[in-house]
Amino acid sequence: MAENDQAFGVYIHWPFCLSKCPYCDFNSHVRRSAIDEPRFARAFAAEIAAAAERVPGRTVSTIFFGGGTPSLMQPATIAAVLNAVGKHWVVAPDVEITLEANPTSVEATRFRGYRSAGVNRVSLGVQALDDRALGELGRLHTAREALAAVAVARSVFDRYSFDLIYARPQQTPRDWARELKLALGEAGEHLSLYQLTVEQETPFAALHAAGKLSVPDEDTARALYDTTQEVCAAHGLPAYEISNHAQPGGECRHNLVYWRAQEYAGIGPGAHGRLDMDGRRHATATEKRPEAWLDRVEQNGHGLVTDDVLTREEMADEFLLMGLRLAEGIDPARYAALAGRPLDAARIAALREHGLVETTPAGRLRVSMPGFPVLDAVVADLAA
Ligand SMILES: C[S@@+](CC[C@H](N)C(=O)[O-])C[C@H]1O[C@@H](n2cnc3c(N)ncnc32)[C@H](O)[C@@H]1O
Ligand code: SF4
Repeated sequence: MAENDQAFGVYIHWPFCLSKCPYCDFNSHVRRSAIDEPRFARAFAAEIAAAAERVPGRTVSTIFFGGGTPSLMQPATIAAVLNAVGKHWVVAPDVEITLEANPTSVEATRFRGYRSAGVNRVSLGVQALDDRALGELGRLHTAREALAAVAVARSVFDRYSFDLIYARPQQTPRDWARELKLALGEAGEHLSLYQLTVEQETPFAALHAAGKLSVPDEDTARALYDTTQEVCAAHGLPAYEISNHAQPGGECRHNLVYWRAQEYAGIGPGAHGRLDMDGRRHATATEKRPEAWLDRVEQNGHGLVTDDVLTREEMADEFLLMGLRLAEGIDPARYAALAGRPLDAARIAALREHGLVETTPAGRLRVSMPGFPVLDAVVADLAA
């Protein structure tokens, strides 16, 4: 995964799901009536045109349809969005185009339609391979249905990934190792393995506060994390990011754009972007509510509600926060160029002494295996 400074990603947000999972705080909504997809397609195209006017001449290296559940979109809607991207920017011949899919909306004919439209990678939200756990997570599919969806993904796309959530209530490292090995038997080049986070203002947060949802304690969570690393590495899928595992070369290039603090446009309701204009980095965000976003785009040609110029300090902090999630770590010289000062050598030495960070032979700074479970504290220390 060679680092490419010219990488430019386009993120497209589809904000609808069939039902709302009780742990999820993504910008996703359930609607009883049909979604007017042609209207959304026109609004996506308008927002793409507006973004391209601000950052013209880019070569798009990755496109990511995220959600919500983008696998509820018609292939024609995906095709219309991709046409708009190609009309306003140059698209790299080896562009990576990913679509997130929920096993409940995976269907071979529609998947072939996505492939015809240009999608060349899918990422499926499997979450668990245990029906009781899937029920507790509020999922609408069984493990068998999830595996059938993985089989469809594999038959249509050369590149596919799926997500699992671990550190679930009552989960032991032994149960998780068994489930993970089953998953690895079905995996291709990439797997995303997320520790369950109890997000504020979700039904899970309310259950947790009421003492009705017990998540693993710190030691068990640590043991589950260690199990994840051991089992995946033994299977040839080491972590290249704190929650993402891939064979060398199978990394998600779109997500690398975020973690390497490169440039990306955020299109659709509640999408975030980072655009470099006139030597300054802009942090953008659009209106979150889908119908309000449509109205804004139809009135103004874009749905932007935030467009902040980042200070040097903010850019440097973001670079550190994102880059230290990666196994490849960061280039301290880039940090120094962004911040206008180098990282504090004494702090690095102390963290190194505790075995939490290490410097590679090429001079990059990275978090060590024991450092990853306490990543937030390591970043906070270095950024202080
Ligand atoms: C935006 S979802 C898209 C996938 C698709 N909507 C689905 O659920 O099948 C991306 C992923 O985030 C993860 N995720 C969402 N909420 C989480 C939470 N509270 N803790 C850990 N992982 C979470 C899930 O693994 C999910 O597949
Ligand atoms: S986890 Fe996926 S399907 Fe569930 S609410 Fe979130 S985005 Fe929708």
